[in-house]
Amino acid sequence: MSRLGTETAFEVLAKARALEAKGRDIVHLEIGEPDFDTPPSVVSAGVAALERGETHYTPSAGVIELRDAIAAYLGARRGLSIDPTQVVVTPGAKPIMFYALLALLDAGDEAIYPDPGFPIYASMIDFAGARGVPLPLRERDDFEPDLDELRHLVTDRTKVIVLNSPHNPTGGMLSDEAIREIARLARERDLWVLSDEIYGELARHQLRLLHRDVRPARGSRGAHDAAARSGSHARRVPRAPGCHREGPE
Ligand SMILES: Cc1ncc(COP(=O)(O)O)c(C=O)c1O
Repeated sequence: MSRLGTETAFEVLAKARALEAKGRDIVHLEIGEPDFDTPPSVVSAGVAALERGETHYTPSAGVIELRDAIAAYLGARRGLSIDPTQVVVTPGAKPIMFYALLALLDAGDEAIYPDPGFPIYASMIDFAGARGVPLPLRERDDFEPDLDELRHLVTDRTKVIVLNSPHNPTGGMLSDEAIREIARLARERDLWVLSDEIYGELARHQLRLLHRDVRPARGSRGAHDAAARSGSHARRVPRAPGCHREGPE
């Protein structure tokens, strides 16, 4: 467990809640959450499903009706044809990123991740036994990666590049040129791209580019990570139509 690391925002949240319980007035700046409750239509659909008796085990990858709906939604948004069998439903985005990294990385591998970035990337890479290689994002570059620097970070051991655009915490976005260049690099060096698109709906045009230029090589499966925007953490449903492996076609 000590290798797992954590998302410190949750530690701060626990401390803040403890102070609130003692009557302190707290302004929460730690966890990013929608500032509205789950919409009533989602709540009543959940309640109705429970009342219908949908309280039993389901297939591990999610019920097929949901996977069908997710494949159709993602396909339309990204201009792709996605088969429902490429979709895996997990409770939150972290589990699917974790599964993907565990599946892709072995001891001795390297994975490049954005720094600063969602702290979980480094924790999970480390837990998988691989070496995390931070890709600096600098304010003077509008928090865009330096593509020459990225090229130099790729070694014979690099297996995965993690992307997150729009980015937490900088708010930066990859330019179209950067996406194309990273796609080229990934293809040249036969790398997997784990694209965390949790905030993708904020920049829809980019979703298509990410999926057109960083497209799945033949026969690859993957774990694009995105979250259904139902407006609540409790109801968010990450989907995984795949990590993209870039390689010669
Ligand atoms: C970059 C990024 N990815 C993923 C997530 C969501 O993770 P989860 O659904 O497990 O809370 C967040 C939430 O803060 C995030 O900022």
